[in-house]
Amino acid sequence: MPHDTTAINKQRQDLSQHESVWLFGYGSLIYKVDFPYLERQPASIEGWSRRFWQGSHDHRGTPEQPGRVLTLIKTPGERCTGMAYRVSPDVFEHLDHREKNGYLRFFTPMTFTDGTQAEGLVYIATEDNAAFLGEADEADIAKHIADSVGPSGKNTEYLLKLSDGLAELGVTDPHVEAIRRHLEPMLQDEP
Ligand code: SIN
Repeated sequence: MPHDTTAINKQRQDLSQHESVWLFGYGSLIYKVDFPYLERQPASIEGWSRRFWQGSHDHRGTPEQPGRVLTLIKTPGERCTGMAYRVSPDVFEHLDHREKNGYLRFFTPMTFTDGTQAEGLVYIATEDNAAFLGEADEADIAKHIADSVGPSGKNTEYLLKLSDGLAELGVTDPHVEAIRRHLEPMLQDEP
């Protein structure tokens, strides 16, 4: 799979017949909402968990020194809670560009907090994408994040804003919080 998945995503689903489409966000899409939406609601999807296993060449790192950002990994029995946005299909033009570094769109069922369900799209960077970094110790991931920066800013900002966004949703993600615990002492060393 090429580094840039924009063209692939455009062909994966024809959204032109939809009046609106639900988008499930679990990472930066929770805290950086740079697109118009019709409504939003916390939601969860079954069988997936967040992992900082995806490389970032375009936002929180560079091709030479990729940062580490989130993808979803299949984890039976786990539930991932995030924010769902109902958007006009043309918003995917912007989203495909933003999520172009290895993410593919998949349709998934999602459940809202009142128990109702909807089908929507989620961007997942699967392990066969060229920027995938894979599993590492959470302490090593924290060090990697502390050392990374890209066109969208520091990699630490991604992790801290995400962790704060999850707290606002009432979600404690053990993987995210373990990395934050390792990261915080490193930040105090900064001038
Ligand atoms: C998402 O937030 O749902 C996708 C991954 C990211 O942009 O951080």
